[in-house]
Amino acid sequence: MASKRIAPSVLAADFANLQRDVEMINKSDADWFHIDIMDGVFVPNISFGMPVLRDIVKHATKTIDVHLMIVDPDRYIKTFADLGSNILTVHYEACIHLHRTLQAIKAEGMKAGVAINPHTNVNLLEDIINDIDLVCIMSVNPGFGGQSFIENTYKKVKQLREIIVRNNASTLIEIDGGVTNKNAKQLIDAGADVLVAGSFVFKSTDPNQTIKELKEIINT
Ligand code: DX5
Ligand code: ZN
Repeated sequence: MASKRIAPSVLAADFANLQRDVEMINKSDADWFHIDIMDGVFVPNISFGMPVLRDIVKHATKTIDVHLMIVDPDRYIKTFADLGSNILTVHYEACIHLHRTLQAIKAEGMKAGVAINPHTNVNLLEDIINDIDLVCIMSVNPGFGGQSFIENTYKKVKQLREIIVRNNASTLIEIDGGVTNKNAKQLIDAGADVLVAGSFVFKSTDPNQTIKELKEIINT
């Protein structure tokens, strides 16, 4: 059984001490850097953009997992590849020609992810599941860190796992929003592979230790 991953969300880091927080993740048991890009249109918030990502990538030594919460993401696929993204995730709700978008992401040498909002049914991905490297199930409405976990997520994870198995796909399931030590194990048991954690990690007194604990919870 492949080991389950933790992806701390840099959105919850201290941007005035970004290098310190990036180094903390480098040294920790975390697996990926989760990077939230928001445009103020697809979601009601603006996070940070290319210059900040460029500086994160300069210091980061782990997989760069970029979550685009922007309209018309096709415009920026090459830009994010050039910046050093390893995984590029677009929102199902923001893509009219999702299949084409996924091919374009892969053509730039990145893994292709699809994020779905809480109201979006996982069955909508059945016909395209073999083209998706990662599905990010939003367990909060995208736009902000620190929100509470939506319980319906467990059901969605189980349904998506069935679709993946049925289609013999190798798609990873990532959960994003409100992840804590209280729901981590249940999410993994439902079929998740990667847990994003922002506030729970960075608002804790010892983020390095919190990552370690989460990793232990999901791999035992
Ligand atoms: C929300 C973002 C999340 C967020 C998670 O729109 O996509 O990645 O940073 O933060 P927490 O873990 O605080 O819910
Ligand atoms: Zn995210």
